[in-house]
Amino acid sequence: MIDIRTFQFGNFVTRTMFCTPEEILEDALLVFDENTAALFPERSLRNSIVLPSGEKAKNWQSIDKIIKGAIDASLGRDGCFCGIGGGVICDMTAFAASVYMRGCSVILVPTTLLAMADASLGGKTGIDYEGYKNMVGTFYPAQEVRYCPDLLKSLPDREFLSGIGEVIKTAMLGDRELFRYLKENRDLIMERDSDTLKEIIKRCIMVKGNVVEEDLNEKGLRAILNLGHTFAHALESVSGFSDWSHGEAVAWGLLMAIETGVELEITDNYYALEVRKMLEYYNFQLYADVDTDKLIQAMNQDKKKKDGIINFILQKNIEDTIIRPVDSDIIHSVLKRNRDKAGDM
Ligand code: GLY
Repeated sequence: MIDIRTFQFGNFVTRTMFCTPEEILEDALLVFDENTAALFPERSLRNSIVLPSGEKAKNWQSIDKIIKGAIDASLGRDGCFCGIGGGVICDMTAFAASVYMRGCSVILVPTTLLAMADASLGGKTGIDYEGYKNMVGTFYPAQEVRYCPDLLKSLPDREFLSGIGEVIKTAMLGDRELFRYLKENRDLIMERDSDTLKEIIKRCIMVKGNVVEEDLNEKGLRAILNLGHTFAHALESVSGFSDWSHGEAVAWGLLMAIETGVELEITDNYYALEVRKMLEYYNFQLYADVDTDKLIQAMNQDKKKKDGIINFILQKNIEDTIIRPVDSDIIHSVLKRNRDKAGDM
């Protein structure tokens, strides 16, 4: 394994490293979904749990299954859970580890680009509840996150692209070099060239890790990592977590955040154009034919709302992010314009 960097997140230490497929499985309670279980036939010789795939399984029943599996395997508090999968498996395995015997160790092996670029690092754990994303959860960083870019080679195209949404977000927030790299290396990225993927994963880890080191519990700075997410979560919620993948919704949400900034005359127009061009360049769907009032209603249920005010993450420019409340009339007009364009297409 090749160390990338060790982070200190509050009282937790997280070691990040690149590994080969042979270095993934750990002597631990292994948690897979149906897709990742198929990649590791040798798992049947170990303690393992296989959960249904997808966001719909991000619920109490899955946590129950993990906890029962840990009890059946006689795991003590000194035991370890190892989640091998996308964001859903990483979030749920770490959530279960955070409550099992008041907290046992957890190693995460993200298998999607989205989970490598974002979800697996920084300790956000949880499940969806009553249609609301990540409504129940904890902050519980993994002891280790092992990144194996070769696993991305077998990922379906749509899922791979979905991860690019989070990579673009990360570049916008904290790495203009990565933004340029994404512009100049699309072919190598889409071919899933190992060294190219390592470069973008490493850059995403650095940006995210630095932010979370400052603010594990999202009291302030960490909220910037939600750029585009208030819009994205509303879209996913209104479309029943099915029509749009998380990364696709994030890509659309990035555009909505940028257009909100343009509407408020705080976002540089040239930068706004660059972001739109980048999202188009990676073929993201940029118009959502979804009821505007329902989207706003879903935003009003957002758990990040404080004292009745939703704070939006907006950008003046690349690496220049602000957090501020936005009048719902502005949000309405940005969303309505987007929906009208969807209707024209
Ligand atoms: N995905 C955003 C965060 O980890 O804070």
